[in-house]
Amino acid sequence: MKLEGKVAVVTGTSPNIGGGIAGGLADEGAAVVCVDVVAANAEQCAAWITKRGGRALGIPCDVTNETQVQAMVARVRAEHGGVDVLVNNAGILGGQSVLDMPLERWTRQLSVNLTGTFLCTKHVARAMVERGRGGSIIVIVSTAGHQGQTGNIGYCTSKSGLLNFTRAAAMDLAQHRIRVNSLTPTATDVAEGDARAVEWGRAKPERPPRVLDFAKMLPTGEMPSPRHYARAAVFLASDDAEMITGFDLRVDSGAIAKYWPWVPHR
Ligand SMILES: NC(=O)c1ccc[n+]([C@@H]2O[C@H](COP(=O)([O-])OP(=O)(O)OC[C@H]3O[C@@H](n4cnc5c(N)ncnc54)[C@H](O)[C@@H]3O)[C@@H](O)[C@H]2O)c1
Repeated sequence: MKLEGKVAVVTGTSPNIGGGIAGGLADEGAAVVCVDVVAANAEQCAAWITKRGGRALGIPCDVTNETQVQAMVARVRAEHGGVDVLVNNAGILGGQSVLDMPLERWTRQLSVNLTGTFLCTKHVARAMVERGRGGSIIVIVSTAGHQGQTGNIGYCTSKSGLLNFTRAAAMDLAQHRIRVNSLTPTATDVAEGDARAVEWGRAKPERPPRVLDFAKMLPTGEMPSPRHYARAAVFLASDDAEMITGFDLRVDSGAIAKYWPWVPHR
């Protein structure tokens, strides 16, 4: 158990990636706080972890609202005494091209992806500094933050911003023994998240076929699943990573390392 005795806050705990990471941290002994603007995502994720024998609490919270973020951190401190790990995973995916993106959609996407991460990091880090035991903060990025994807201007912009947010926050917090690292997922196999939705009592999500054949373009030939991100998050959260800060850990089946014209599985 790599995270025994630790308290972890995970934002954006849908049945997909946030739920997978929350479950993975709980499996390693952490008490997990599931935070989501959709109350059912916070509460059902916590109930699922508890049913599996873990310790969890669900807190509905909009990460773009500073008052709500402060109240969420205060509640975690009241219940658990402090926070050891924060996973900034809440995000809005998808978008439009720079020609078509409406200002309102751009503003909301940047607000959730960038400002939400800033606010949670700010208030959790303040609590960590006050307690004086250090901590680990993980920022969920995307391969779309490393590359220019078509039709996704707000997502690409916000996710690349998070890469340097991570480095700058790592510098601000190093003196307090708080490590800040990012984790880069890529196009994710939907099977595990869909199965988790069903476990939470929901209908299996309807999914239109994907336009791109992601698996064929990945060097490994296989898309990662949320459990693969969870293992990387456990590593970054644990004392095994005690000398690692300001780093981006890519769990992307080799996507970013690939020489761009190479089609691996043709
Ligand atoms: N799914 C992928 O293929 C993929 C690939 C790369 C990166 N990612 C990243 O992984 C993370 C999770 O993605 P996912 O596929 O599980 O998405 P998802 O839409 O299933 O989950 C995102 C969660 O964030 C929550 N959220 C949105 N706005 C919020 C707010 N203001 N306050 C609190 N919670 C809020 C949503 O309610 C939802 O539960 C995101 O940061 C995403 O950018 C996903």
